[in-house]
Amino acid sequence: MTNILICSAGTRNKIVQYFKSELKGEGNVIAADMSELAPALYEADKFYTVPRITDERYIDIILGICVKEKISGVLSLIDPELSLLAKNAEKFKAMGTTVIGSPYELCERALDKMQMYRWLSSHGYNCARSYDNLRDFYADMDGGLINFPVFVKPVKGSASIAISKVYDRETLELLFGQSAGLMVQEYLNGQEIGVDCYIDLISRKPVSIFTKKKLLMRAGETDKAVSFSDGALFELIEKFVAESGWLGQIDIDVFDVGGKYYISEVNPRFGGGYPHAYGCGCNHIKYILNNLKGVANQPQIGAYKNNVFMMKYNEVMIK
Ligand SMILES: Nc1ncnc2c1ncn2[C@@H]1O[C@H](COP(=O)(O)OP(=O)(O)O)[C@@H](O)[C@H]1O
Ligand SMILES: [Mg+2]
Repeated sequence: MTNILICSAGTRNKIVQYFKSELKGEGNVIAADMSELAPALYEADKFYTVPRITDERYIDIILGICVKEKISGVLSLIDPELSLLAKNAEKFKAMGTTVIGSPYELCERALDKMQMYRWLSSHGYNCARSYDNLRDFYADMDGGLINFPVFVKPVKGSASIAISKVYDRETLELLFGQSAGLMVQEYLNGQEIGVDCYIDLISRKPVSIFTKKKLLMRAGETDKAVSFSDGALFELIEKFVAESGWLGQIDIDVFDVGGKYYISEVNPRFGGGYPHAYGCGCNHIKYILNNLKGVANQPQIGAYKNNVFMMKYNEVMIK
């Protein structure tokens, strides 16, 4: 039996469905969420409603579920929980459960866009110049290194909340005066790209890289996209993954600015656009299940068709 626990399942029904169909009865899919109105719960073989992840009892409750349900692998679908699971990976291991995800420091780096910027720039990757204070930004503006328009967003933001393109000093100062924890970033004027990558938990090498051009974004999510491949981008991702040490499923935002690839951010979990990759045959669920059985996967980089479109639409569940 290979039983899986999906934490903070939320509205990610497809991910639960994929695990169920890949397991083909060889194990159970258990889902957990703080709300019993999380529709993905009802796709699972069994579900638990649990406290909020910030509750001090949370991790013990999840560990308890792992013991009771004989869970082989646990993963989360929301960013703030990734660090929490990673931090407790040894406790899970002691109970026979593998945390499917990146090491703690990397989960923390992914949450903090300034930390990520410092890492990327100090390792020589193209990335948007970033500032967490206006003094440094103005100094670089005086030095001719950056100019308006710029992009303003929370250092620890997610889901495209509180982001804005800013054209002048007045607006910039107004925004920084209103809220703390903001950063200014060089505006990247180019094609947005989404990367779904699986890094084998055993060989620690990327075994699948799926890349798509984002055609339309809506409420922080990719609404329409088209698959493509470029050897230069695969090479960049392989280098980036090896140098940083990401593990398991990760989702990377990249910009193509005038033919140069800029790495923007990483979400070390299944991204909202993963169904596109799965639909094109990049079966990262199967790779996870192989890893949990102790089997390393052979690399299949770029093994998918180009020009396949993904179109999102709404669905409802009645319970
Ligand atoms: N430097 C930038 N230049 C242009 N657009 C940007 C820039 N940074 C972010 N964006 C846009 O804003 C969206 C959200 O920003 P992102 O950094 O991915 O934060 P999050 O997804 O965590 O909210 C991106 O998907 C992209 O469309
Ligand atoms: Mg993003």
